[in-house]
Amino acid sequence: MPYDRPLVKVEPPGPKAREIMKKHHELVMTSTHDPEDLPLVIERAEGVWFVDVDGNVYLDFTSSVAVNNLGYPTHPEVAKAINEQLSILAHAAGTDFYNPYQVTLAELLTSIAPGNFGKKVFFSNSGTEANEAALKISRYSTNRKYFISFIGAFHGRTMGSLSLTASKPVHKKRYYMTMPGVIHVPYANPYRNPWRIDGYENPDELVNRVLDYIEYWVFEHQIPAEEVAAIFFEPIQGEGGYVVPPKNFFCELKKLADKHGILLVDDEVQMGLGRTGKMFAIENFGIAPDIVTLAKALGAGAIPIGATVFRRELDPEPGSHSNTFGGHALAAVAAIKNIEVTKTLIPRVSELEKLFCEKLAPLKDKYPAVGDVRGIGLAWGIEFVKNKKTKEHDPKTRNRVVYEALRRGLVLLGCGKSSIRLIPPLVVTEEQAKLGLEIFEEAVKAAHH
Ligand SMILES: Cc1ncc(COP(=O)(O)O)c(C=O)c1O
Repeated sequence: MPYDRPLVKVEPPGPKAREIMKKHHELVMTSTHDPEDLPLVIERAEGVWFVDVDGNVYLDFTSSVAVNNLGYPTHPEVAKAINEQLSILAHAAGTDFYNPYQVTLAELLTSIAPGNFGKKVFFSNSGTEANEAALKISRYSTNRKYFISFIGAFHGRTMGSLSLTASKPVHKKRYYMTMPGVIHVPYANPYRNPWRIDGYENPDELVNRVLDYIEYWVFEHQIPAEEVAAIFFEPIQGEGGYVVPPKNFFCELKKLADKHGILLVDDEVQMGLGRTGKMFAIENFGIAPDIVTLAKALGAGAIPIGATVFRRELDPEPGSHSNTFGGHALAAVAAIKNIEVTKTLIPRVSELEKLFCEKLAPLKDKYPAVGDVRGIGLAWGIEFVKNKKTKEHDPKTRNRVVYEALRRGLVLLGCGKSSIRLIPPLVVTEEQAKLGLEIFEEAVKAAHH
């Protein structure tokens, strides 16, 4: 280390990788289905590079699912802050006692989160916990029972957040009953929606259809609007396929929510913290939500931390919701430094967005299986289809592209039914980005043969 190119000496999975994967499947409850899908056993990582147990070197375009935005093992400034803090204070029951570190982080988060109003923060350890807190704060403050969430959404897998999730049936299989009272409605997906509207050509028509759906099919037929506590949304659907809605979607959604006194909960767990060229992805759409949830990248890949930032007046009474590790001093210090570093990276993300757009957009006309290319900043999704007219999903080609990329030294992750996300760490250089995009196209080409 450091590396300037990938180097795949042994076709993955190599012998050592096979051994660990076998044990993993014996011992670890896992979300990995087929061991051959993405046979990558990572031993160490530096910057934007992974080294597997067989000595192969790969360029990472996953940020370990949007967590390692600052690279690996973490940013040196975050590592320094954590090391210093470790000899001062790590855990001190941040929900029972007080510590200055969580207060500083809360000051920072409430000042940078969208919305010119007073805010508070609930600290936790993960995305699902941040959303569970948002559910409870919404119910408590409004005293309303119902929630609206979008088809394609992923908000977590604990029983409350799972009830909001609607990206893959396997997440819910045999887990019913989850929390009752959630109605799912179509997302403003420009490429694939129930009305077969081309949302790139006709964004207003698409947005109007979604809003009409909520007003007419939900509020006039299923549940009273005045009993809905909140609408949960992802500003760009992540696990659902990196779906970017029309620019005015959330402004229109907010008008609807305001009309009925419904809160808006913006789940920034995957898209937050610089990924889209803004600190919060919703800033690309010009509204201030009532509640924002964060996790993944917040701890800079070093320490798990989640946060729920909400309008101050929604605050439930003390003791109403709490946990053990919230306000963890070490996690707080990591997050503070992370936000400072992320601020400096944001201008680069917009620069790199141009390169991604330039290299990825033409693939749609060049390759028969590339149905859609969409993205903002360093958050790009490519959807694979069997037929461009019928848009039938093509997960086989998608999986093949992921594997062909891996063989060539680029790590990618699928999302949705047949999409791939391209989400390198924000510290990726222009040269590394170009290299990754070249390998990606080679993999797409190879998967067509
Ligand atoms: C948008 C979004 N919300 C919530 C979650 C759940 O986060 P966690 O896995 O930390 O519980 C995820 C995880 O992928 C996510 O992408």
